[in-house]
Amino acid sequence: MSYQVTIQPSGHQFNVESGQTILEAALDAGFALPYGCRNGACGACKGKLLAGEVDYGEHQAGTLTAEDKKKGLALFCCAVPRTDLAVEVKEVSAAKDIPVKTLPCRVERLERLGHDVMGIWLKLPSSERLQFLPGQYIDFLLKDGKRRSFSLANAPEEDSLLELHVRHVPGGQFTEHVFNAMKAKDIMRINGPLGSFFLRESDKPAIFVATGTGFAPIKSILAHAFHHQVDRQMVLYWGARTLQDLYLAELPGQWQSARANFSFVPVLSRPAPEDRWPGRTGHVQAAVLADFADLSGCQVYACGSPAMVDAARKDFLAHGLPEDEFYSDAFNFQ
Ligand SMILES: Cc1cc2nc3c(=O)[nH]c(=O)nc-3n(C[C@H](O)[C@H](O)[C@H](O)COP(=O)(O)OP(=O)(O)OC[C@H]3O[C@@H](n4cnc5c(N)ncnc54)[C@H](O)[C@@H]3O)c2cc1C
Ligand code: FES
Repeated sequence: MSYQVTIQPSGHQFNVESGQTILEAALDAGFALPYGCRNGACGACKGKLLAGEVDYGEHQAGTLTAEDKKKGLALFCCAVPRTDLAVEVKEVSAAKDIPVKTLPCRVERLERLGHDVMGIWLKLPSSERLQFLPGQYIDFLLKDGKRRSFSLANAPEEDSLLELHVRHVPGGQFTEHVFNAMKAKDIMRINGPLGSFFLRESDKPAIFVATGTGFAPIKSILAHAFHHQVDRQMVLYWGARTLQDLYLAELPGQWQSARANFSFVPVLSRPAPEDRWPGRTGHVQAAVLADFADLSGCQVYACGSPAMVDAARKDFLAHGLPEDEFYSDAFNFQ
């Protein structure tokens, strides 16, 4: 049996299938309701029932009191509808709507994704989830008070572990540690989510431009967009020096084969002779301009080396891209 839920004030509607909580069904349908722990402990998902009845589900007594229930409040991460519902809750539409948290985490898994890229999967305490917009990043809080920023590569729909792609910076304090000493079960502290690099709603074609691990936040954005059947045209230009620098390149290749509205253009700036590279060469931003002489009707998302982001901004604005349609995360170092 499924029930229909109407969100006020937005008027958005979605169905809740049996066994689903209101929050699960809303996220599945692409509506970003606020949440924290997703298990009845933090209260971040609390909202008002305007009409209809729910089973409140298992939750901590202090998080939703008898008084709260009398006022018509419920925890949407635990509540299951018993009838069609109207609920009042403010949907997350911008980074400012999501609380920034400092959390402990455990390194669950480390895996070499490329010759100089390490995949790190982090597990949060079982009572915590990190709500984030695809494209945002977290900071590791180091023991000496320094911070190191890394973008989340997983989509929010797959958040049981947080996925990061860390490029080795020779001599770098943190990344040397990641490549030479970090091991599974290490405990770290993170702060996030941070940043405003996320997909804006629009019908315009979206052009993604990455260098190196700038692919990480774009992977999150694209996986989220595919999950929600976003049907606008999207193209990824991914630049690297040689073929071996394009870690995980088979993934956007698979996306391209499976989806009519997505294409992938790998671009090598200095292909090695053994690469026998038949594809595009040069700077990644130049490859975009070779295909889009007029960018006035597009949106651009650029991420990776500060030099690329800087050059892309200048070149793209000179080719008609409106200034407020250029979104970027430059991987500056702290
Ligand atoms: C918002 C944001 C998101 C980021 N996301 C990612 C990500 O998803 N994946 C990723 O691999 N990196 C990412 N970065 C870059 C990453 O934070 C740095 O590479 C990292 O902090 C280096 O830490 P370190 O302690 O090893 O080097 P440090 O000890 O801080 O630096 C040592 C020296 O190496 C050089 N250096 C440091 N970082 C870089 C760099 N990125 N490029 C070139 N030279 C550098 C500098 O000369 C520096 O003096 C991101 C940066 C920002 C600001
Ligand atoms: S998300 Fe924490 S109580 Fe619902």
